[in-house]
Amino acid sequence: MAFHINLSLTLLFFFSTLHSLFAAFTPTDNYLLNCGSNTNATFFSIRSFLGDSSHQGSTFLSTDRSIPLSDANPSPDSPELYHTARIFPSGSSSSYKLSVTSKQQHTHFLRLHFAPFKSPGFDLLSAKFHVLVNGFSVMNSFSTDSIVVKEFTLRINDPVLEISFVPSKSSGFGFVNAIEVFSAPNDYIIDQGTKLVIPNSVKSFSNLSSQVLETVHRINIGGLRLTPFNDTLWRTWFVDDEYLLLKGAAKRAVTTDPPNYQRGGASREIAPDNVYMTAQEMNRDHQELQARFNISWGFPVGSKPVLHLVRLHFCDIVSTSLNQLYFNVFINDYLAFRDVDLSGLTFHVLASPLYIDFVAESDHSGMLRISVGPSDLSNPSRANALLNGVEIMRIMNPVSSKVGSRKKHVIWIVVGSVLGSLVFLCLLVLCGLCLCRRNAKTKNSESTWTPLRRFRGSSISRTTEGTVSSNGYQTLRISFAEIQSGTNNFDKSLIIGVGGFGMVFKGSLKDNTKVAVKRGVPGSRQGLPEFLSEITILSKIRHRHLVSLVGYCEEQSEMILVYEYMDKGPLKSHLYGSTNRPLSWKQRLKVCIGAARGLHYLHTGSSQGIIHRDIKSTNILLDDDYEAKVADFGLSRSGPCIDETHVSTGVKGSFGYLDPEYFRRQQLTDKSDVYSFGVVLFEVLCARPAVDPLLVREQVNLAEWAIEWQKKGMLDQVIDPNIADQVKPCSLKKFAETAEKCCADYGVDRPTMGDVLWNLEHVLQLQESGPLDKPEETYGDATGSGTSRQGPSSGSNTYRDNGDGSSGIINSSQVFSQLMTNAGR
Ligand SMILES: *[C@@H]1O[C@H](CO)[C@@H](O)[C@H](O)[C@H]1NC(C)=O
Ligand SMILES: *[C@@H]1O[C@H](CO)[C@@H](O)[C@H](O)[C@H]1NC(C)=O
Ligand SMILES: *[C@@H]1O[C@H](CO)[C@@H](O)[C@H](O)[C@H]1NC(C)=O
Ligand SMILES: *[C@@H]1O[C@H](CO)[C@@H](O)[C@H](O)[C@H]1NC(C)=O
Repeated sequence: MAFHINLSLTLLFFFSTLHSLFAAFTPTDNYLLNCGSNTNATFFSIRSFLGDSSHQGSTFLSTDRSIPLSDANPSPDSPELYHTARIFPSGSSSSYKLSVTSKQQHTHFLRLHFAPFKSPGFDLLSAKFHVLVNGFSVMNSFSTDSIVVKEFTLRINDPVLEISFVPSKSSGFGFVNAIEVFSAPNDYIIDQGTKLVIPNSVKSFSNLSSQVLETVHRINIGGLRLTPFNDTLWRTWFVDDEYLLLKGAAKRAVTTDPPNYQRGGASREIAPDNVYMTAQEMNRDHQELQARFNISWGFPVGSKPVLHLVRLHFCDIVSTSLNQLYFNVFINDYLAFRDVDLSGLTFHVLASPLYIDFVAESDHSGMLRISVGPSDLSNPSRANALLNGVEIMRIMNPVSSKVGSRKKHVIWIVVGSVLGSLVFLCLLVLCGLCLCRRNAKTKNSESTWTPLRRFRGSSISRTTEGTVSSNGYQTLRISFAEIQSGTNNFDKSLIIGVGGFGMVFKGSLKDNTKVAVKRGVPGSRQGLPEFLSEITILSKIRHRHLVSLVGYCEEQSEMILVYEYMDKGPLKSHLYGSTNRPLSWKQRLKVCIGAARGLHYLHTGSSQGIIHRDIKSTNILLDDDYEAKVADFGLSRSGPCIDETHVSTGVKGSFGYLDPEYFRRQQLTDKSDVYSFGVVLFEVLCARPAVDPLLVREQVNLAEWAIEWQKKGMLDQVIDPNIADQVKPCSLKKFAETAEKCCADYGVDRPTMGDVLWNLEHVLQLQESGPLDKPEETYGDATGSGTSRQGPSSGSNTYRDNGDGSSGIINSSQVFSQLMTNAGR
């Protein structure tokens, strides 16, 4: 049974303590050294670390050219273990040598504690050094200004484990405060059953146990932070809050019943009871969430592609009986495990712990993403998914960082090489210690803050690149307090728009970036699916012609989206119905080209393709330089391959722009966007609303009315008088034909956005360099009947936008552009 976490903490603590007490694990090898000290020190009041300067401890030091150092002025909050350190000056060959049981398949834990302090003669904060284990470099040019505990698991084939600290050239010494070396339980790392997650398939990964692993994250999902005191292997488990991408999607599940450990499943050493007794499950409390969705976490892992062992812990504490729960697991958006059925995998015992090992490569986003979501097998009324724990360990392999572009060879490379240098992060900041914890916290938040700012800067000032790599939602989170102060506490005078989702405010962030703040009606969770959809889509997409999401806030039941601010507002207000000076014809063409470029990118830029679903002149925004950006993805849904139930969730487009075919077939495709875009083109040309109910019947609908005039060959009669004298007939002809084709009754007859883009560029060329009249003789018609200057036939999808605002990259269009440019000179 699942209970809310607040109700059961006391019981939980009671049970878990009870359990870990009578299930202590006794490692065969067990070295705990208090470095630089001649007395023993305890840590978390459970384990005694032997002073390495004591008579007994000094036997582990191979030479005496190292220096014991004490903190003359230790902070009262820091544990005694961290009051001393051993210094390894350059030139010293001193090292620790520990004899170990070197049975085949015997994995050991190695933990190194670094707690720098300043002492006369040595400022440990300035030290920079390498750490070698039996000659294998596990840490390179390491330095730290806060407490760091590095953990490695490795198989030792020699009878002796030697740990040495070699200063970098720039630094005179290395140091360490404490060392743990102890045998891992049998089968802690096993070679069978590990799944290698690569694009489009899952293979098995062998020889995991011969790899050196560095622990990067160890997370108790949905639970509390667990200290070495709570864990049979003296591990620290952190909470998942800061990694959960959308808190509203998840709900904590907690049980008071101890897990039913089964042979073949996980053991208490794999993860303590507390990990399996808490989880995050899907939050189905809100009506709108009938839709299927994932719970996702993003874990920072460094932006070099490196293989990681991802160990996921599961225990079905949410079902009331067997066979209720079926879910899918995704790692980095790749399907890692389809239809996980915990009942089947755990021999039909409910609440029985299980772990699954995956090997996945991190990508340049610097974020390893893990998602769980309901499987097709689940009963829709109780579709659910859960996750209890996550461990991420970097596979330390010199070659794995190069496999990014050659994924097919991953296995081969990994197995073929063992030694080498590595890149690393210091991530395991031990937070059990009050003062140090506070220090560490400030530092952490500062360091995540800087990239966020940098990221924002680049996304706003020069979003020239279209990238579908997720920068992670993590960096996008903005505190409610910052938004509140940036909008003068949602000052009504700052409202710049009202949408289905809620009010839009003008605001600014701490760094004075101007932003548009879209605030969902506070308290009501209405629109949560749109909110989730918008963040998911926008956080993955950056393009010069798409409005960037700067951040979001999901705090105190607020749903707030923060976008880059578009100075000149919607396109519509520069066409009619406002005091703005109407745009010139050339400006209009440039705006249309920009918007087409953005939309084309949306359709083709990601593997799935995204349908905007609500293209209209108020959703095309202009920045300072009248550059167009497509906005408002709130109604977006991923492309054609999603299930029908999603697409037919009611008419969501805007009247007058909506694809007529949608009514017939109840199906939205990217060609629905093309239709709406065609309406926008007519709007740009004629400067009147898509629907004007005040007009006589045959004029109400802009598309129908304009096409009538177009068919009569008299469209020039109804174009906006403000631009009538600027439009060259040849550009008008091409423009009108393009718009008409976009508004074809059937989707198949409409061009793709790529074709539209090409045609609009053609229009601009004609406007700039074409003759003042007689378009027919010079430039063929737009139906693709065949001069070399024509765009690709509709349906061909060869036009690719590289998102940098330059022309397409495909030969024919380049040739075309050149022809036109030359012709113009
Ligand atoms: C320190 O611990 C070791 C075992 O780890 C023990 O043999 C020794 O007696 C202890 N020394 C003191 C002074 O407590
Ligand atoms: C695994 O590694 C061992 C040596 O560590 C090697 O003998 C064996 O062939 C490897 N297995 C595979 C499948 O590569
Ligand atoms: C974990 O251990 C700490 C002592 O270090 C204790 O205060 C805490 O209650 C324990 N947590 C659980 C969940 O057992
Ligand atoms: C869950 O996430 C995966 C990977 O990003 C995606 O392919 C899948 O469609 C998502 N499922 C749902 C129901 O959103």
